[in-house]
Amino acid sequence: MTSFRTELASPQPGRGGLPARAHLRSDAPRQPLDGAWQVRRRPDGGWSEIRVPGHLPLQGHGTPIYANVQFPFPVDPPFPPDDNPEFDHRLEFEADPAVLAHPSALRFEGVDGAATVRLNDVELGTLRGSRLTTEFDTTGVLRDGVNVLQVRLAQWSAHSYLEDQDMWWMPGIFRSVTLLARPAGGIRDVFVHASYDHRDGSGTLRVDVDSDAAVTVSVPALGREDLSAGESHHFRSVDPWTAETPSLYAVRVHTQQETVTLRAGFRTVHVDDATLMLNGRPLLLRGVNRHEHDPLHGRTVDLATARAELELMKRHNINAVRTSHYPPQADFLDLTDELGLYVMVENDLETHGFELNDWRGNPSDDPLWHDAILDRMRRTVERDKNHPSVLFWSLGNEAGTGANLDAIAQWTKRRDPSRPVHYEGDRRSRHVDVYSRMYATTAEVERIGAGTEPEDEHRRELPFLLCEYAHAMGNGPGGLSEYQELFHRYPRLAGGFIWEWVEHALHAGTTAEGRTVQLYGGDFGERVHDGSFVIDGLVHADRTPGPGLADVARVFAPVGLTIDAERSTVTIVNRYHSLDLTHLDADFPLPPVAPGDTVTVPLEVSSLVTLSLRDRRQGHEVAWAQHVPPRPAPAVEATAVPSGDLRLGPAVFDARTGMPVRLGDLGLHDVAVSLWRAPTENDRGQGWEERDLPSMADRWAAARLGDLRTRLIGITADGPALVVRTRSGPPVIDAGVDVTWRWTSDGDALALDLTIEPYGRWPCEWARAGIDLRLDRPTARVTWTGWGPGPQYPDTGQGARYGTFTAGRDTYAVRTVRPQEHGARRVDDATIDLAPAPENRPERAGAGLRVRGVDVPLTVRPWSRETVAATAHDHELPAAASTWISLDAAASGVGTASCGQGVLPPYRLAPSTRRLRVVLQQPIREEPVATSSYQSVSEPSP
Ligand code: GAL
Repeated sequence: MTSFRTELASPQPGRGGLPARAHLRSDAPRQPLDGAWQVRRRPDGGWSEIRVPGHLPLQGHGTPIYANVQFPFPVDPPFPPDDNPEFDHRLEFEADPAVLAHPSALRFEGVDGAATVRLNDVELGTLRGSRLTTEFDTTGVLRDGVNVLQVRLAQWSAHSYLEDQDMWWMPGIFRSVTLLARPAGGIRDVFVHASYDHRDGSGTLRVDVDSDAAVTVSVPALGREDLSAGESHHFRSVDPWTAETPSLYAVRVHTQQETVTLRAGFRTVHVDDATLMLNGRPLLLRGVNRHEHDPLHGRTVDLATARAELELMKRHNINAVRTSHYPPQADFLDLTDELGLYVMVENDLETHGFELNDWRGNPSDDPLWHDAILDRMRRTVERDKNHPSVLFWSLGNEAGTGANLDAIAQWTKRRDPSRPVHYEGDRRSRHVDVYSRMYATTAEVERIGAGTEPEDEHRRELPFLLCEYAHAMGNGPGGLSEYQELFHRYPRLAGGFIWEWVEHALHAGTTAEGRTVQLYGGDFGERVHDGSFVIDGLVHADRTPGPGLADVARVFAPVGLTIDAERSTVTIVNRYHSLDLTHLDADFPLPPVAPGDTVTVPLEVSSLVTLSLRDRRQGHEVAWAQHVPPRPAPAVEATAVPSGDLRLGPAVFDARTGMPVRLGDLGLHDVAVSLWRAPTENDRGQGWEERDLPSMADRWAAARLGDLRTRLIGITADGPALVVRTRSGPPVIDAGVDVTWRWTSDGDALALDLTIEPYGRWPCEWARAGIDLRLDRPTARVTWTGWGPGPQYPDTGQGARYGTFTAGRDTYAVRTVRPQEHGARRVDDATIDLAPAPENRPERAGAGLRVRGVDVPLTVRPWSRETVAATAHDHELPAAASTWISLDAAASGVGTASCGQGVLPPYRLAPSTRRLRVVLQQPIREEPVATSSYQSVSEPSP
């Protein structure tokens, strides 16, 4: 017998397992072995209790390591390093007599790392393929009374070279372990084939059964109790399965000894004229990439959480999931069948770290690894083959190219010709059925859609999808609309999957102030790591939505609504695959519209119009449109006159700087022009369209954009206006901005008409152009009429609508795991209430600052920009003591350069003259403002 250590270096598949088969729902007895197990670090650690399923480093045994592409060990395949954490697991259990009465099997659904399994001192075999199921035959080994199960696990093995997905390395038995009775004369495997013929609405069903006994197959909803297995049966009329109409038919497979129940969905996916078709109609994927992640339990995600995730996706118009980059827990696919989501199931295979070594020694192209790679694909397909929601098989992610990938593509097509095969890394798409790319720019996607990209004939026949795009890291993703517009324009473009659904932060308790400590790469002392690159999801690790999710919902809306300029008509585009809109509740007369059709109907409405469509079945809003009439700039009658001591109405100015220092009894501090923002993670990335240039953040740093120095040119009275002229510029260079501050007042409000004019040769684009100021008490809440509730930058905020909103300090500021610029809303009238109320002015309880204008980007946060930029984690930000406010004339978009295209040209901020008109005043309130709690954002008032 080879030793445990020697075998870790073997590129062979695991041994001793039963042939892969479907994850079946059977009435045969079973015994879950999840719960408290014993574990010890080898060679000489003491035994302690851990929870199975679970990851060892999250239960005090070792530390998580986050690395994206780079292997955290020498690339010396197939050898793991000697420094290799090893653990012994042990479980004593009494065998359930019901299981013991039959032949039996022991099933592991996911063990991260490489392991050897022994039951009652008999070696059953080895586990390889961390996110794949293995079953061992335990017949004759399982015994009456106490049984001892031992799992010896090593973190690193030859198979680590195949598991280089961008996520935490965390060993452990992280999915369920179950003993299964396998009755003689039972059912070993089932393969349901159910297709739909859109021409006549008929369905064909074939149920292949692997059993030694006589089998009956029944489909009660189709009135059949006696279908022969292995033969095609035709049904004249069936309800097809789509994500919009997830019609499932219970299928019962029965022998004397065992009954298995499945749910069939009749659907046919195929490619026609380079278009991806489902049931004869073009299919548009509005998808996300989903890793399994929980901030406390890692890749152990319970089914209730998974269901809540899928429901959250459905409520945000997401219709597809790529299970990046491994098969999910098996039961997840029951949920996608039932709730209706299209799924691309991906093999547990990634060898990306070899790319950093020019792909030398890549297992994908080395015969030594052929069997292991084929074994992984086989186990992926066999386990999940019966799910109607699974539309594609993906060979893996970022594994280069090579004969082993070709081989698994061929095997998969032979085994399941009904589903297209996907692999993005196949640079010429020779062995796949869809042309897939990640993060291609909109310019390139447009050429692919239009067919003007040079391509060979084979590729030109394939539909195109983006298996990853719109990297949702930090403030963003920017530019979603531009992708969607192309998907709608070109039938060849089948949509794609946003990167990614959930952030992988690990939670480590709370600070004294009650902030959750959220950790990322490097926080565990890893010497090789990729920092915060694993925090890039539409929802946070605890699944609370980030602001990008509302934008996704709007951009993915399955119905297009456009109100004309006169508000006399609305044009409705039905972008559903197969629904005709009669399932929607509308607040205007909505006719049925066939999928793909456009209809214009008259409207009778007042000036501010919001139209909304809700799905009657799930109750959520699927689409909305708003017509917001132009609003005049607020007028302030200039009745006050500037006095010699630099007072104007309620304002007092500083003669040395020309800047206002008081507004009534409110102190204004550090008023200054500003062109910089605290870089977002997208600002820190290099846009794929200009990879040879430094990141935006680096360009700003080189120009010292955040370090403007100001010189007062002059203060003059111009009739009722106080005019202040300043010049600001960064050190070292001879470029900057000339700023004219024209102040007027009616005695109560203070109006500012600001002009920012560049001079000299600017070496970079600006992050923003506007003013900053500080109030010396923290914000209690912000109430605004304008756009909300989420933030808006020029290329985000599609989900924001016009209304009146309230947000607490943290909600307005929008906190991200790694601090960065965020939270701007375009406001017409905003009040920043401060806390606590000044004791001497109860009528000004919570009084703060009121800002009026038209569409003025307003940022409010309890830290300075410099503090935000210099802080690595949200929980390290200081407690709120002041309020920093920014009012912008213009701001740059955010793009997705953390991985993908940068800010598109229309959303960049070239140095040019910018004008900001705002009115500042102190709010007067009748009611004291509650300042104790932070309120979350509310819906617009009617
Ligand atoms: C892709 C990769 C993903 C993830 C993403 C960046 O290249 O497939 O796993 O790393 O980039 O977040």
